[in-house]
Amino acid sequence: MRFLRRARQVLGQKSPFRWAPNWLRARWAELRKTERITSRPYALMVEPTNLCNLKCPTCPTGAGTLKRAQGMMDMGKYRALLDEVGDGVLDLTLHNYGEPFLHPHLAEMCRLAAAKGITVHVSTNGHFFTDRAQVREILTSGLSHLKVCLDGASQQSMEVYRVGSSFEKVKEGIRLVVEEKRALGRSLPVIDLQFILMRHNEHELGRMRALAQELGVDLFDIKTVGIDDDDPDFAKLAEKYLPRDADKRRYELTPDGARLKAQVTKCNWIYRTAVINWDGSMVPCCHDTHDKHVFGNAFLDGGVTAVWQGNKYTAFRKALRTSIREMPLCKYCPEVEGFDSLYRGEEKVVR
Ligand SMILES: C[S@@+](CC[C@H](N)C(=O)[O-])C[C@H]1O[C@@H](n2cnc3c(N)ncnc32)[C@H](O)[C@@H]1O
Ligand code: SF4
Repeated sequence: MRFLRRARQVLGQKSPFRWAPNWLRARWAELRKTERITSRPYALMVEPTNLCNLKCPTCPTGAGTLKRAQGMMDMGKYRALLDEVGDGVLDLTLHNYGEPFLHPHLAEMCRLAAAKGITVHVSTNGHFFTDRAQVREILTSGLSHLKVCLDGASQQSMEVYRVGSSFEKVKEGIRLVVEEKRALGRSLPVIDLQFILMRHNEHELGRMRALAQELGVDLFDIKTVGIDDDDPDFAKLAEKYLPRDADKRRYELTPDGARLKAQVTKCNWIYRTAVINWDGSMVPCCHDTHDKHVFGNAFLDGGVTAVWQGNKYTAFRKALRTSIREMPLCKYCPEVEGFDSLYRGEEKVVR
């Protein structure tokens, strides 16, 4: 029963007549590894903003190492992209590098996507749940999945990575969200407490589980820590943040640094998910932090479809088909099929 309930939540409410023809074409292209495709993306990752209130040291936004302009997505342009491809889209992730709740129209962004039957996911550092009316606005926006990041069971450990954070504010914010969701009698969004397991907080795992229970979230989720492979201090950061428990690391240590425990052999992002940054630039995936492989601009170059089916994307699909293992971008990608443990330390449904 729980599985069926989750499946219904995840699949959203959308007539197959709207999404299935495109989905079938995209899946067929992926199976055959076709380079030039006629389908559109059936998932989106949209960056409302790449500005942030925190300074997490291995996040390029937080570390201040992001090599692209910062700003907020324009609502007119967001509407236009949903109008263009939204009918075929099943799933939307509304964050990339930055804090989505800094965007003044985040709830409206969720509402517009949900109105098209799209399942919407948001991850947040959790500092914006202080006002009951605003919390209700986001809970009733059609959002399906709200991930709140709490990376420690105390202020002391949390602020080692979440620099500038307030443990109390996030904890009480989650409490308010859960309380309001119950008062509204809603099953969605799924409230997911994510804990990034690192050296300084691994001893708090038990306390975090207990806290998740106490707060009454729906899901408690443990994520392995990633280090920006473009960071010149990669080795130092790895030493500081990788947990002692090697099972909960996505990397294994080598004499010259670290490498992923397994390497990607194929990529489904380039057939399924268009990543659209706040300014419209389209890149292969969320690992292209610094816009190294920009295929075009959804707002300037004729729309999402034109870029998705264009020459630069086609050339990239071709390159991945033949030499994904040599591609520097893909070297540290944890999305290796069959290796969930690269991404997730453990996952537990609380209720
Ligand atoms: C870059 S953040 C942007 C969204 C939001 N600001 C947040 O922190 O949730 C996107 C996701 O990456 C996660 N994240 C941040 N730093 C990470 C790290 N070093 N390793 C793995 N995941 C990380 C966040 O917890 C979040 O779920
Ligand atoms: S809160 Fe999110 S976007 Fe902000 S610095 Fe931390 S990980 Fe990066």
